[in-house]
Amino acid sequence: MSQILSKKIIAWYQKHQRQLPWRVYKSSSDRDYRVLLSEIMLQQTKVSTVIPYFNKFYKKFSTIKSLSKSRITSVLKLWQGLGYYQRARNLHQIAKIVSQKFGGKLPDSFSDLKNLPGIGDYTASAILSIAKNKPFIGIDGNVKRVISRIFFINYDSKLIFNIEKKLNLMKVKIGSSDLMQGLMELGALICLVKEPMCKLCPLKADCISYKKNMFVLKNKTRTVVKKYFYALYAQKGSRILFTLNNNFKFLSGLINLPLIESKNKNYGTIIKKNFKKAIVANIMDNSFNYRMSNFIMYIKILKIKKIIFDKKKYFWLEKKNLKNFTVSILAQKLLQFATKYEQ
Ligand code: ADE
Repeated sequence: MSQILSKKIIAWYQKHQRQLPWRVYKSSSDRDYRVLLSEIMLQQTKVSTVIPYFNKFYKKFSTIKSLSKSRITSVLKLWQGLGYYQRARNLHQIAKIVSQKFGGKLPDSFSDLKNLPGIGDYTASAILSIAKNKPFIGIDGNVKRVISRIFFINYDSKLIFNIEKKLNLMKVKIGSSDLMQGLMELGALICLVKEPMCKLCPLKADCISYKKNMFVLKNKTRTVVKKYFYALYAQKGSRILFTLNNNFKFLSGLINLPLIESKNKNYGTIIKKNFKKAIVANIMDNSFNYRMSNFIMYIKILKIKKIIFDKKKYFWLEKKNLKNFTVSILAQKLLQFATKYEQ
């Protein structure tokens, strides 16, 4: 039964797959690289967003080797706007490690892949199946939904072993790459969260949810933590004060406005602690919110009149030179907000 399902998924995928830039390749090493790059970019980001970034990145760095020789600043520049910049740093490290330790060839063992930075069970399995055609299946949200609906089982994270058991029976000797991508593709195109398009599904004759006309919907109850910050907006002529030395991992390596978590302290205390001297001209409305994956930042912008700071941490930058730097999206938005506020 499970093997028949797999055959149907593979046949459907071969006919209906989307043309995506990581599904065409010139050689097996090119395939490895495209799959690695796409899987890192697709962590937390949807396909339509990734495509233009993938193409731009691949155009500049078209092999693991060229990426391994690049500077992190140019990698981050290409990643600008895609978010979760730690992924870019990990990818850069992966390219270096693969070049030094594996002769430039992406390893094909699960444990070697998992030892690379930013590669967990899911990404290692996805790479082994998609690029290397090995009998692995990465379990992402789409795959969980498809399997839980076919077999009408719960897909609570505590019960993931039920899904793993079904998938183990579905693994194939030939066609692992198409099976993995077919499962993802079914989740993305047919077995949609809210309104699955069952009439078009190659598995409708097998799907218990379809027979019962009852669909498992994942219960989304994520708690979102609120965090409070002060951002400094200091101008000197046509220059603005920035920092690179961020305390926040999600911003490190990017140019930012000075940003300090308030932790219930008033801004007077914060400024005393972080700057030699700073005079606040005014506080802008506290209506600036910025949503990260698992927390919301509430940011008050302090317009600064005069400031004396540690030159190792902060620096002035001409506005017209900003385009030469990787400015975080957060800083771009804060600047937009501050400029508008001042008008
Ligand atoms: N999501 C994660 N990996 C993917 C892939 N290779 N193709 C489409 N969507 C994906």
